Parts: sequence; C-alpha cells; structure tokens
Amino acid sequence: MTDIRTARAWLTGAARPVSFSGAGLSAESGIATFRDPDGVWATVDPVRMASPEGFAADPETVVAWYNARRDASRNARPNRAHRALASRHNMTHITQNVDGLLESAGALRVLHLHGSLDRDRCHRDCGHVEPATRRGLNTCPDCGGAMRPDVVWFGEMLPMDIWTEAEIAVADADVMLVVGTSAIVYPAAGLIETAQRTGTRIIVVNQEPLDLGVGIELVGQAGEILPELL
Ligand code: APR
Ligand code: ZN
Repeated sequence: MTDIRTARAWLTGAARPVSFSGAGLSAESGIATFRDPDGVWATVDPVRMASPEGFAADPETVVAWYNARRDASRNARPNRAHRALASRHNMTHITQNVDGLLESAGALRVLHLHGSLDRDRCHRDCGHVEPATRRGLNTCPDCGGAMRPDVVWFGEMLPMDIWTEAEIAVADADVMLVVGTSAIVYPAAGLIETAQRTGTRIIVVNQEPLDLGVGIELVGQAGEILPELL
C-alpha cells in the first residue's frame, strides 16, 4: 500500500488523533512562515521583536510589529488544510501558530502552545488578559504594568496548563499528524518524540523533507495533501 493510503487508513481508524502544526499550515492562507527563505526571520531579528529583552529595549516597535502581524492575520482565511483538520471532530489540534485560523475553520479543540495574537496580557504576569483591541502601548488596568501580546517569546515559559493538556493528549494519542513545522523549536517539538516513545503512529506532512525518521513522511503542500488524507 502507498504511504498516503497507509496514512489515510491510520487516520480513518484513529480513535484519539492529534495534529501538531506550525507556520506551514497557515502559509497557503498568506501568513509568512518563520524559517523558509522568504520567512519572517529572514528579515526580522527574533531577539529584537520576539523576546522580553527586545520588548524592554523598544516596546513601541515590538507592539507595532505585532499589530501589523494582527492585521495580516485578520485578513487571512482558513485554507483547505485548516478545513480538512477541522473536519475531524475527534482530533485535538496542538499548534505553535498564534493565528486563529483553525478555530475559524471550525476546529473544536485547539491548544495554542505559543499563545494567541488575538490577546494582550500584562507583562508583570498579574493575570490580566484582554482581547487585543487597543492599539499602541498600553498599561494593565489592574496593576499598571505594561501590556504585551499574549504570545510566548524566546526565553519565556509556555503556558503550563496548555502544555500539560498537550502532553496528555499526545501520550494518549493513537495517531499524530504533524503539519507544516520545521520541528526544531523546543519544548514544542519534543511532543513528536513523546508520540514516538509512546508508540503513536506519526504522519508528517511538510513542504520540505524533515527526515525525522518517524512513521510516514509526505512531502508537499498541506493544502494539497490534507484533503486527501482526512
Ligand atoms: N505546506 C506544508 N508545509 C509547509 C508549507 C505548506 N504550504 N509552507 C511551508 N511549509 C513548511 C516549511 O518547509 C517549514 O519546514 O513549514 C515549516 C515551517 O517551519 P518554521 O518557519 O520554522 O515555522 P514553525 O515550525 O512553526 O516554527 C516554530 O518558531 O519562531 C518560532 O514561535 C515561532 O511558533 C514558531 C516556532
Ligand atoms: Zn497587571
């Protein structure tokens, strides 16, 4: 049986499937990835724009950059890959993406390991979180601290509740569908090793070969392959 037919059979019979996705899932919706040759980090310094140090040094520029990413994300529509994933109502979607395109496609359970562009949170971690509706630099209404995008910056911890939920979902999963990630940023990428260790059947869909040496690897665009798989 060909790889795609085997992968489809695994997914058809899956009782507790999970997806694990990265920026490549949203690429066909017009949202730039990070490490492709035309990716975000090819022109933007991640430390300057996506770290607590960068925010402390120049909060105005960081907030303006995130507002520009929000505008781009708001104009994006779910693509065929998002819709294919969302069609599996028993699938838990674990994503590194900060856009809301899986939810817009109708996905029922989405765990955002790296936060969400749609929210701002207090940089003092007092607990205040709000929808990202205020533009410019804002202060926390509860403690006066600086407000910043509710995303995980380099060097910051992942949201513990979401991370624990993701680890449990992966440990319990019978099939993991890895979509559009370079699988090099930890701890998120470690979920693939957790899946491998617990005997989960792993299917990787990526535009570039990753050669992770796990399960089935299907090379191509997510928007082409996922509708065939799901
Ligand atoms: N279909 C499938 N795969 C694709 C597509 C597509 N249409 N377009 C790009 N890809 C693949 C690329 O080949 C690459 O392997 O998606 C992957 C995207 O990798 P990255 O740009 O590294 O994005 P990601 O894996 O999500 O990065 C992880 O790093 O910068 C941080 O916090 C950021 O969450 C992000 C994390
Ligand atoms: Zn606060």
